Amino acid sequence: MKGFVCKVCGFISIDASAPERCPVCGAPQKSFEEKPDAIKTAKDEVKLSEKHTPVIVLVRKCGLIPDGCVDLNVKIGEVIHPMLPEHFIVFIDFYLDNKFIARVHLTPEKLNPAAGLHLKVSSGKLSVIEHCNLHGNWIAEENL
Ligand SMILES: [Fe+2]
Repeated sequence: MKGFVCKVCGFISIDASAPERCPVCGAPQKSFEEKPDAIKTAKDEVKLSEKHTPVIVLVRKCGLIPDGCVDLNVKIGEVIHPMLPEHFIVFIDFYLDNKFIARVHLTPEKLNPAAGLHLKVSSGKLSVIEHCNLHGNWIAEENL
């Protein structure tokens, strides 16, 4: 799947253009490179996909914020990905309607490959892209 990749921090713009500034690291537009194969999906590499494709779980009753909060939980992947120093999930980026909303940075050894956000909105298209240090970027999408 196509994307515009920030050469500084690895953020991928998925709205068919490179942003004026990278929403993650602030790098200018010229730092972005259009790549036809920026993001992998289950169709690309079936064997790798079960450990890399994000699994999105929405919980519409939040235990932390009582009103109007949707918990967006993500794990990588259907078979849990390793978190070893030599092979781990580096970050998980979240998008709503193709626009960046958050990045969660992970470190190996003490963390599971998972993250959660508390959303104030209850509609829109969610996209989640994870970056594996060995196997690249993988996406999952779901409507809220
Ligand atoms: Fe991997």
